Amino acid sequence: MKFSNVIKSPLEIKVDALAVFVFKNEKLPEQYDDIDKKVEGYLRRIIEKQEFLGNEGEIYIVDTLEKLPSEKIFLVGLGEKDDFIPDVIRRVAATIIKKAKALNLGDYAIFPPKFLDMSPSKMAQYLIEGSIMGSYEFNIYKSENVKKNPIERIFLLWDKEAELKEANSGIRIGRAVADAVNYARDLGNHPANVMTPSMLASEALKLSEAYEKINTKVFDLDEAVKMGMHAFYAVAKGSNEPAKFIVIEYNMEKDDLPLYALAGKGITFDSGGLSLKTSEGMMWMKYDMCGAAAVLGVIKAIAELDLPIRLVGVIAATENMPSGTATKPGDIVKSYSGVTIEILNTDAEGRLTLADALGYVSKNYKPKVILDLATLTGACVIALGNYATGLFTKDDTLAEKLIKAGEESWDRVWRLPIWKEYYEQIKSDFADVKNIGGRPAGAITAAAFLSKFIVGDIPWAHLDIAGTAFSDKECGYIQKGATGAGIRLIVQFLMNELNE
Ligand code: BES
Ligand code: ZN
Ligand code: ZN
Repeated sequence: MKFSNVIKSPLEIKVDALAVFVFKNEKLPEQYDDIDKKVEGYLRRIIEKQEFLGNEGEIYIVDTLEKLPSEKIFLVGLGEKDDFIPDVIRRVAATIIKKAKALNLGDYAIFPPKFLDMSPSKMAQYLIEGSIMGSYEFNIYKSENVKKNPIERIFLLWDKEAELKEANSGIRIGRAVADAVNYARDLGNHPANVMTPSMLASEALKLSEAYEKINTKVFDLDEAVKMGMHAFYAVAKGSNEPAKFIVIEYNMEKDDLPLYALAGKGITFDSGGLSLKTSEGMMWMKYDMCGAAAVLGVIKAIAELDLPIRLVGVIAATENMPSGTATKPGDIVKSYSGVTIEILNTDAEGRLTLADALGYVSKNYKPKVILDLATLTGACVIALGNYATGLFTKDDTLAEKLIKAGEESWDRVWRLPIWKEYYEQIKSDFADVKNIGGRPAGAITAAAFLSKFIVGDIPWAHLDIAGTAFSDKECGYIQKGATGAGIRLIVQFLMNELNE
C-alpha cells in the first residue's frame, strides 16, 4: 500500500473513491462545496434529509455518475463536533480503508478536513496510522478464502506547497509507527508453537540485518546463568524450548547521544508453571510476549525514523511450563542484581524474568530512563480494563511525560502509586522479597517487586499492558488479537524527548 501527498483538486483527481468529512448534525463544510456542486447538491441533500447522520465512522456512498472523474464519494461521519478528539481521524481512516477493501477498490483519495484545529503533519500522520493499523490482517494460517488487500494507493489532497511539505513529514512518522505496530502484532499473533524464544531472538537478529544502526546479541540460557540470572533461569528451567536473553541496541557507538532503555516481558507461553493456570486462563497466554514485541517494534520505528538517540532493548525470552525440572513454589533464588527471591507462585513469572532484565540493563548501560512493558498482571486488567495501560513510577516528571505522550498518541496510560506501604506485602519470611503480594493491589505489588531490581538511581517506569496488549474485539483501528500497545506511546515519548 502506497501513500501520496499531492497538490491536486478533488475535481480533477481520478480515483475509485473520494472521501470527505462531516460532523454530526452539521452542514456540509464549505471546503466541499465545489464537489457538491458537481454532483448537483446531492451531498447537501442527503444530509438535510437525514439520510446520513454523521455518526462517527458512518459512511454514505454516493455514485458520481461521471459528474466527477472519481467514481464514488465517501461521505464520512466525524461524530459530534463537541466530542471531537484527534484520534477520531485514526478511527475514521480505519473505517474508510475497511469499506474500500470490502468494495474491492484499487485506490482512493482523502480530502483532509481543514475545519479542524490540526496541522497537516498531524492530520497526515493520523490518517496514515489509522489506514495502516486498520487494514491489518493476520491470516497466514488460513488455507482458503483469503482476499489480498486490493488497495494500491491512497492519495491525500492538499492545495498549498507548504501543507504538502508538512504532510510529508507526517506521513513518514505515521508510516514508521504504524508499520512497527503491525510488525509487533504479527509477532504477538503467531501461535506459541511458532513464536518460540528462538524465533523472537531471530526476529531481533533480522532487525539488525535490516537496519545498519541496530545490533543484536543473543545469549543462551547457560550464558545467562553464568552472568547470574537465576531469576530468569527459575522460569526457563521448566521448559524444553531453549530460552534466550536478547539484547538489541540502536546507535550504541554514538556515545554523545542520550541513552534510553527498554525491557520487555517475553514469555512466549505462560502456562503458569507448577502453579498451573486453568484452561480458560491459559487461552490467551501466547500473548504473554507482547511486551517483548513492543520493544522490537519501538526499536524498528526509531531506526526507521533515524532518531538521534541511543536505545537498548532487553528481553529475557522463555516459556513458563510445568515439568519435572520446573521451579517449585517455595524455591529461593538469587537475582542478577543480588536480591534474593522466594518464589511462592510460579505463575508470577514475568516479574522474575524482568527482574534480571532490569538488573542487567540498569547495571551495564546506566541509561537516562528505563521503561519496561509487560503483560504482567490480571489485577491490572481488573483495575483499568482494556483502554489504559497501567503506569507505575516513582518519578513524577517521567510520569507526566508518559501521560502526555499517551494522550498525544492515544495509546493511553493511567498512573497507579507505588507507595512504600505496599512493600509490606512482598516481604518474605526467608528471602529479601517474595514474588506474590496477595490479592489487594496486585498490579501495584508487582511494580513494587520490579523496583527492587533496578541497580542505581535511574528514572524507571513500568507499563503493565495486560489489558491493552490484545483484544477479543475489533474496533476502529484495533483488530482482534495483538494490538501493538505501547509502541505509539513510547515512540511519541522519545520524539518529545528530542524537543526538550
Ligand atoms: N501473564 C500473566 C498476567 C496476565 C493475565 C496477562 C491476564 C494478560 C491477561 C501473569 O504472568 C500472571 O499469571 N500473573 C498472575 C500473578 C499472580 C499469580 C500474583 C495473575 O495476574 O494472576
Ligand atoms: Zn503467569
Ligand atoms: Zn505471564
